[in-house]
Amino acid sequence: MAALQAEVARRRTLAIISHPDAGKTTLTEKLLLYGGALQMAGAVRAKKGQRATTSDWMELEKQRGISISSTVLQFDYDGYRVNLLDTPGHKDFSEDTYRVLTAVDAAVMVVDGGKGIESQTRKLFEVCALRGVPIFTFMNKFDRPAKDPLELLDELERVLGIGACAMNWPLGDGSAFKGVYDRATRQLHLFEKVPSGMYVTPTETTGLDDPQVREQLGDALFDKVRGEIEMIEGAGHAFDPQAVLAGKQTPVFFGSGVNNFGVQLLLDNFLRYSSPPTPRRSGERVVHPTDEPFSAFVFKIQANMDPMHRDRIAFARIVSGRFERDMQVLHAQSRKKVRLSSAHKLFGRDREIVDEAVAGDVIGIVGGTEYGIGDTLTTDPTLAFQEIPRFAPERFALLHNPQTSKFKQFREGLRQLLQEGVVQAFELEHSAAKVPLLAAVGELQFEVLQHRLQSEYNAESRLEPKPWTVARWWRVRPGAESKPVVWPTGSALATDPEGGRVVLIEEAWQLEYFRERHPHVELAVEPFAFLERRQQA
Ligand code: G4P
Repeated sequence: MAALQAEVARRRTLAIISHPDAGKTTLTEKLLLYGGALQMAGAVRAKKGQRATTSDWMELEKQRGISISSTVLQFDYDGYRVNLLDTPGHKDFSEDTYRVLTAVDAAVMVVDGGKGIESQTRKLFEVCALRGVPIFTFMNKFDRPAKDPLELLDELERVLGIGACAMNWPLGDGSAFKGVYDRATRQLHLFEKVPSGMYVTPTETTGLDDPQVREQLGDALFDKVRGEIEMIEGAGHAFDPQAVLAGKQTPVFFGSGVNNFGVQLLLDNFLRYSSPPTPRRSGERVVHPTDEPFSAFVFKIQANMDPMHRDRIAFARIVSGRFERDMQVLHAQSRKKVRLSSAHKLFGRDREIVDEAVAGDVIGIVGGTEYGIGDTLTTDPTLAFQEIPRFAPERFALLHNPQTSKFKQFREGLRQLLQEGVVQAFELEHSAAKVPLLAAVGELQFEVLQHRLQSEYNAESRLEPKPWTVARWWRVRPGAESKPVVWPTGSALATDPEGGRVVLIEEAWQLEYFRERHPHVELAVEPFAFLERRQQA
């Protein structure tokens, strides 16, 4: 028991969220270097290179193969064991990206200091915020011309609606970037570009009035920086570790990922202030990571699309207890007993069999066609998690079966792939045709579905895109049932598989217009049942 507690206490499970090109790959690579995982760092960069050239199907397959392997990167640093979960972005932005965020205990948000908050960052932030996931911010690229740091903090607060606390302060930007001032230790970390690379020189100071600081920064920069810091000391949020854990404040670190500058300050503080694996709910019960029964939930299913190596891997985040190789567990949804004999840690082409893992870790279970997204694996038959919410989709299409002779394959393939969570399916209300309406967060989900229907079930399909871009679960507030509801032009009503009612709208502004005129209609980005469960928690 004590051994389990000690192992759990040193786990940190996180994801990095960012807009494309803000510096996620670069930061991942540098973090791996701190963990001494040089080979992994190289492979992360190589993977990014390959993605950039991805266009046709062969390439996509390769890419999927690769993204299997880097789903979880694990490294040790300073006594901690860090699980870094990949959030697929760019072209392969999909529901998987969001689901990964249900399996982490914290997120590091990388922002390009020259650009500020961008659209994809905001979407990912919102998914974290909804679940109260603590967020640490890395303001990147300060070696390039950046926005005013006070403005960036203000933007974080305004756009994301979260308190922002600068943990260090940038000393200039662009070619005049001199480094950062660490507020907690009052150390200057000076940035010097030298031909052989980068030097970081932490210099102890007695504070901002220290003549040494003035001397090293020069009068003009010193006065500017001192003014800025005085301002945040006076008017900014005081650092509040509890608010950070509650997802109400984000500590902000300035730096330059590519120069490996400010990364260690981020990592050290992240490890210090983030929490070890957090408890999860199973119905009324709270399951603690150090509870002895093993339990885990599946947050991602990855199918290899290469016909030569067709297999399926279910990624499960361990919630409690200890995983041991070959252990027998219950698959809560089917009530079947399964032996976890082929659980792996994955990286590159190598699969490493996992002998032991604890709460906070992720295992990849090969095979197991019965698993679906959100399923529970446990040694305690009374447990079942409901971790995986649905995410408001933004792409819609009807899926037709052009070959009536292949109806069975089509139906069976679709059933299986929906169970896996490849896309969501809704049923259009008032529609006579029995054609399923598919819904996804990203276009790639449709492509994967069609490709797998063809290659695994030999079923052709035809996609008929629909113009909606917004989906909201809706219900009329109690007592307002008799008030009229006028749905936006071009919208449609649908139901999800659990009977939740959804409205599909073409343009975001129509949603706002509708909302203003219908205060008696409640709208949500996920089913009300999920919202209520979380509120209870
Ligand atoms: P992503 O995974 O979020 O998409 O971003 P990635 O790390 O690949 O970074 C995008 C580009 O920004 C890369 O340049 C990278 O080198 C650069 N970059 C990352 N951090 C910094 C930084 O602190 N300062 C500066 N100046 N640049 C940074 P690229 O030209 O697209 O690729 P590469 O040829 O450098 O690999």
